[in-house]
Amino acid sequence: MTDAPNKSHGRKAIRPTFKPRELMTATPDLHGVWKAKILTLFPTAFPGVLGESLTGKALQDGLWQLETIDLRQFGVGKHRNVDDTPAGGGAGMVLRADVLGNAIEHAMEGVRGNWPILYLSPRGKRMDQPMMRDLARADGVTLLCGRFEGVDERVLEHYGIQEVSLGDFVMTGGEIAAQALIDATVRLIPNVLGNAASTEEESFSSGLLEHPQYTRPAEWKGRPIPDVLMSGHHGKVAQWRQDQSEELTRIRRPDLWDAHQKSNKD
Ligand SMILES: C[S@@+](CC[C@H](N)C(=O)[O-])C[C@H]1O[C@@H](n2cnc3c(N)ncnc32)[C@H](O)[C@@H]1O
Repeated sequence: MTDAPNKSHGRKAIRPTFKPRELMTATPDLHGVWKAKILTLFPTAFPGVLGESLTGKALQDGLWQLETIDLRQFGVGKHRNVDDTPAGGGAGMVLRADVLGNAIEHAMEGVRGNWPILYLSPRGKRMDQPMMRDLARADGVTLLCGRFEGVDERVLEHYGIQEVSLGDFVMTGGEIAAQALIDATVRLIPNVLGNAASTEEESFSSGLLEHPQYTRPAEWKGRPIPDVLMSGHHGKVAQWRQDQSEELTRIRRPDLWDAHQKSNKD
């Protein structure tokens, strides 16, 4: 897979007057453009923060696409019920297998290539930068946002859905986690960030946390910027940043530090 944008990006198909929310529903699929399909009970939560700044501009420019699929549309009965009580008893409600199955099959119609289906879940593999890098190289992703006590397990088994977690805490729904995942992935898509070098130097890209950053004023509340950063000596600046990265990682994230040392040995 090359990092070069696909020639058939199809940007011409997008009218520049569209706002990010309109782009989610009004445009046809753009060939070769990374897309996130979101299965949610709250489609109006999107694009949310993804419609702002660089991710919002990239959405407008057709560098990625977003589609929400309202789970309620697949609900059963007069009231379009999507949930029911847990088999075996207990508190709360569970999203029904038949409702989710129909919604997932609708979402995956016509999908081609490398296109994982992920369920946002506190039980899942913790999100990390390598996961985002893999997702950015895929053709797209379908994200299932849970609510209530979660989803019927059979759905996860049947479609081979991987569970991914934002962290070791429990939220009321998967929508915030889905937006975090999309934000971290979309910024790795070629041309989304103005300065590609910034993704190479930032935290996790080399297995280390990033060094501290400073900007003007040169002195603030009696705190000067470290002399070396004002020296204009590129070699010394690079060495200082590397030392700081290593020291921060060693102190704050012994797990990353051990992995970094091991990979250096190998
Ligand atoms: C209240 S939670 C369900 C928690 C579930 N009963 C459990 O104990 O694992 C409702 C939904 O929020 C989402 N969610 C909650 N915490 C999350 C996390 N840390 N990462 C990703 N999604 C999360 C999931 O989609 C989940 O189905």
